[in-house]
Amino acid sequence: MVTANAEEKGSMHDWRHDGSSDDKLSNLVKLVPGTSHWMAEMGDRYQNLYWAAKQEKWDFAHYQLEEMEALARIVSRARPNRAETASVFLDKAIEPVEHALSDKDWGKFEKAFSVLRAECMACHAKNDHSFIILPEEPVWASSPVLNMSK
Ligand code: HEC
Repeated sequence: MVTANAEEKGSMHDWRHDGSSDDKLSNLVKLVPGTSHWMAEMGDRYQNLYWAAKQEKWDFAHYQLEEMEALARIVSRARPNRAETASVFLDKAIEPVEHALSDKDWGKFEKAFSVLRAECMACHAKNDHSFIILPEEPVWASSPVLNMSK
């Protein structure tokens, strides 16, 4: 017969239910996702941004960019020692792409996307991850909205 494990039976200490407020807070702080977690999503949106623009889905591209901006702000909050480099990124990388998307101009977008890429990688370099090199022209995107096939 299959029996419930100790945690399900409630015989195990579970800080979420019976921990002190200090325990709960300190565990929650430890569980704040770090840069690599947010960057997986950033990488995804980088591809989706590129292909949304390429497919002239300008509003969807704009949405990707806004989410990327939000992610950079989340990283600043989650890992304050990266806030300064994130702020350089936010100052330099977002606006050119925003303009290109508002103008619905692929030529302008290509240039702005290459500025964005350079700023992503500048932040990687400043944070000891210069080996994380992004593709200039992502070959694929993950969003179902773009309906890509591999
Ligand atoms: C605030 C600095 C910063 C900015 C801005 C930044 N990154 Fe990162 N990125 C990092 C760091 C640091 C790592 C390594 C993760 C770690 O050490 O926790 C990383 C890792 C990554 C990874 C690897 C994730 C994995 O584990 O496979 C990808 C992909 C990535 N970044 C994409 C991007 C893209 C795309 C942009 C720009 C749109 C960007 N990053 C902007 C700091 C940054």
